[in-house]
Amino acid sequence: MRDLVNSISPFLRDIMSELGVEANDWSGSLAGSTDSAYADVTLPCHSLSRILRKSPMAIADEIALLLGNSLNGICSVSAVNGFLNFSADADWLSSLVEARALDERMGIGIETPKIIIIDYSSPNVAKHMHVGHLRSTVIGDALVRMLTYKGHQVIGENHIGDWGTPFGMLIEHLLDVGDGTPSSEIDLGTFYRDARAKFESDSEFADRSRIRVVKMQASEPDTITHWQMLVDRSLVHFNEVYQMMKILLSNDNLAGESKYESSLPEVVERLDALGMLKQSEGAQVVFPEGWTNREGEPLPLIIRKADDGYNYATTDLACIIDRVEVIGSTEFLYVVGAEQAQHFAMVFQVARDAGFMGKEINAIHVPFGMVLGTDGKKLASRTGGAVHLKDLLIEAVERADSMISEKNPNLSGEERKEVARMLGIGAIKYADLSTDRTNNYTFDWEKMLSFDGNTAPYLQYAHARICSIFAKSAIVRSSVQGTSISLIHERELNLARNLIGFPEALDNAISSHSPHKLATQLHSIAQAFASFYEVCPVLKAEGEATKNSRLALCDLTARTLECGLDLLGIESPNRM
Ligand code: ARG
Repeated sequence: MRDLVNSISPFLRDIMSELGVEANDWSGSLAGSTDSAYADVTLPCHSLSRILRKSPMAIADEIALLLGNSLNGICSVSAVNGFLNFSADADWLSSLVEARALDERMGIGIETPKIIIIDYSSPNVAKHMHVGHLRSTVIGDALVRMLTYKGHQVIGENHIGDWGTPFGMLIEHLLDVGDGTPSSEIDLGTFYRDARAKFESDSEFADRSRIRVVKMQASEPDTITHWQMLVDRSLVHFNEVYQMMKILLSNDNLAGESKYESSLPEVVERLDALGMLKQSEGAQVVFPEGWTNREGEPLPLIIRKADDGYNYATTDLACIIDRVEVIGSTEFLYVVGAEQAQHFAMVFQVARDAGFMGKEINAIHVPFGMVLGTDGKKLASRTGGAVHLKDLLIEAVERADSMISEKNPNLSGEERKEVARMLGIGAIKYADLSTDRTNNYTFDWEKMLSFDGNTAPYLQYAHARICSIFAKSAIVRSSVQGTSISLIHERELNLARNLIGFPEALDNAISSHSPHKLATQLHSIAQAFASFYEVCPVLKAEGEATKNSRLALCDLTARTLECGLDLLGIESPNRM
């Protein structure tokens, strides 16, 4: 409860300075408590013992005494076992909730804008997007939305794999199978695999492929035309997935490997001029300090391979130069799986050593774990291959559709289709976003589509339920937004406490790049709403004032859920 901490702090500051305790010695310990039943905010006095040479109990008692009645109207204070416990007053809570209800942004502040680049999704050309790209896409998109809402200029960059030696075999394969047009006949499901198999078994094909790489690097027009066909065909597929999921990526966000191809020689020159390039087994490499392999030998970052080809790392260095020197961004987030942690750590270190990015630049790898099947192994299709993302999305919407048909037969036609899409896609996204991204999570249809538990349908249902309260009564939502809110019932107070925590949860989610912290708060809000609604009648409340107060609380709850879900990239239907 950051708001309460802020209200209490000035009073504590005065008392502490009287006692001769510096702000540094206490302000960090004043924090929200996990159980509002005994306190909203606590100050453990144990660390002050050393300074004041008294027991924590005596200190807590003394401070409580000194505070006296000064916090009246804000909170009550009690000293228990060396802790100072502060519990917000109902009046203080209601005026805060009233202010939130009047605020379009529900208390969410705007920060000094930075240009932030989020590198996410980043699938590879000539391949289907698979479930591994799901996490990057969903987490990256939530970060884009959250940071944009806080006022930043966010640039989403899709660093697609659209260049490099594999394109030699891919183009040759395209020439072999197709009529040379970018037709939809290219089956991305098997294209890459077929080309690879031929490359490995057919030496004539392998030779042609190598020659093709040379032609591609020389920008030979016919080769580039065919390369472009592969890229275009893949983009149709990527964009289809993005549109199904309402991901904020389009062709405008493309910043694939090919974009940096012409700057790669410059990377080599600059590293060479700094004396950082070393020869190692025919390749040109950099040895960043502190990295060793299992044998304890220095670990190289390969810049240019023995065959003269550039490397994934070289492209990422060129990309950093572009982001710093051309775009002028000061913060880059890379939403990429945990298995690339070493790659980014080494690339960042070399970029810093080479002066490509200075201290003012924050380059952060935002890693995530794997998606597991219910068998506990990496999620795979029935035939054992990677699960295609598109198939997964289609299945989610179908499952949501049959669920809705069962629960609410009144929904029909277009509306039902729309709601099924919002629920199905929302369920997939939320299952991902509600777990700590650094953990693996289990992809479980039953669980993610359930109306109980920490799921999208549960949150969406709470929102739709509130919409239906208003629909039933024909009361206009905005008309209740200035009403005075009185919090009398314990469950009203609990709901208010949860609503107040929304902006703080968003800030915590942003500062740790962890959308699940926002999801957790939304889930608590939905739970608090359910338990409030169970015992506090709204339309049938006793007296007009109570009814309006509760309607205002309902409206704020619905807006908070809708806004929070939207920041996670999830839609909230009004009926379901
Ligand atoms: N295309 C890569 C892959 O599928 C991810 C690229 C991530 N971004 C980057 N700047 N390296 O593994």
